[in-house]
Amino acid sequence: MGSALETVRTALITGASSGIGRAFARPLAAMGKDLILVARREDRLQALAAELSEKYPIQAHILQADLAQPDGPQRLFADTEGRGLTVDLLVNAAGFARVGEFSELPWEAQAAMIQLNVQALVELTRRYLPGMRQRHGGGVINIASTAAFQPVPYMAVYAATKAFVLSFSEAVAQEVAADGVTVLALCPGATATEFWSIAGHWQDRLATMQLPDRVAALSLRAFDRRRSSIVPGLQDRVLAFAASRLSPRPLAARLAARILFGRRS
Ligand SMILES: NC(=O)c1ccc[n+]([C@@H]2O[C@H](COP(=O)([O-])OP(=O)(O)OC[C@H]3O[C@@H](n4cnc5c(N)ncnc54)[C@H](OP(=O)(O)O)[C@@H]3O)[C@@H](O)[C@H]2O)c1
Repeated sequence: MGSALETVRTALITGASSGIGRAFARPLAAMGKDLILVARREDRLQALAAELSEKYPIQAHILQADLAQPDGPQRLFADTEGRGLTVDLLVNAAGFARVGEFSELPWEAQAAMIQLNVQALVELTRRYLPGMRQRHGGGVINIASTAAFQPVPYMAVYAATKAFVLSFSEAVAQEVAADGVTVLALCPGATATEFWSIAGHWQDRLATMQLPDRVAALSLRAFDRRRSSIVPGLQDRVLAFAASRLSPRPLAARLAARILFGRRS
């Protein structure tokens, strides 16, 4: 089987208004792929679509959607169907975290995290995948995290959503590989985006973090090679390996709390 990106004409990116999702848009546009940019902040999507469609010979559509609403994914799917848009590559980048003790963080924020990071991602994958299988090409990039590799105290729900995304994506990848469809779980470590101001942590460390453009470029290369998971960057790869394969899980959880929050859990 050849290059996975060759089978992609149109890519739908959720979370395209910022950070890692936004970073996928430019290289895909430079390859001549049409784009469907999705997020809540329409003004940002409009500016990005205008910039990229002016610079590259592509069409860039924007669709505003709140994917933390239970009917968000279904509405988005109906919208693309209604406009006759075929999605060859789905990049599920919309997601967020809140940092704090599980028993103290507002339930509504944690429920929204599960709805967006898990429910919306799974539903969009389920709705777009059958078309890809029929066309024998394309695929899905689901953004998990290095938080997927061990429990993370003070980010308990977030890390659990990402463990779900990794397991789910790697399983589905095997189910559809024979049809020429690629499913990639992208597991970045700390990346300099708005994620950290929303999480309420590490805003003072952005300068030390990897850049979203590099994360997107490495994962597009991994997708093109039909890999089922990637941890961008050697240091994060080593840490992920040590956390998931070398440490007992209670120890890995305690170390995660120390590294992220400097506290003993
Ligand atoms: N940054 C990191 O260190 C890091 C590390 C590992 C994994 N990740 C994961 O990477 C993904 C992208 O995060 P990021 O770092 O790029 O953060 P970001 O800059 O905050 O971007 C998050 C994106 O999600 C969109 N979004 C949030 N809530 C939404 C909703 N209810 N409906 C639709 N879209 C929504 C946002 O757009 P609007 O606000 O305009 O809707 C934004 O475009 C997330 O899944 C995150 O968990 C991040």
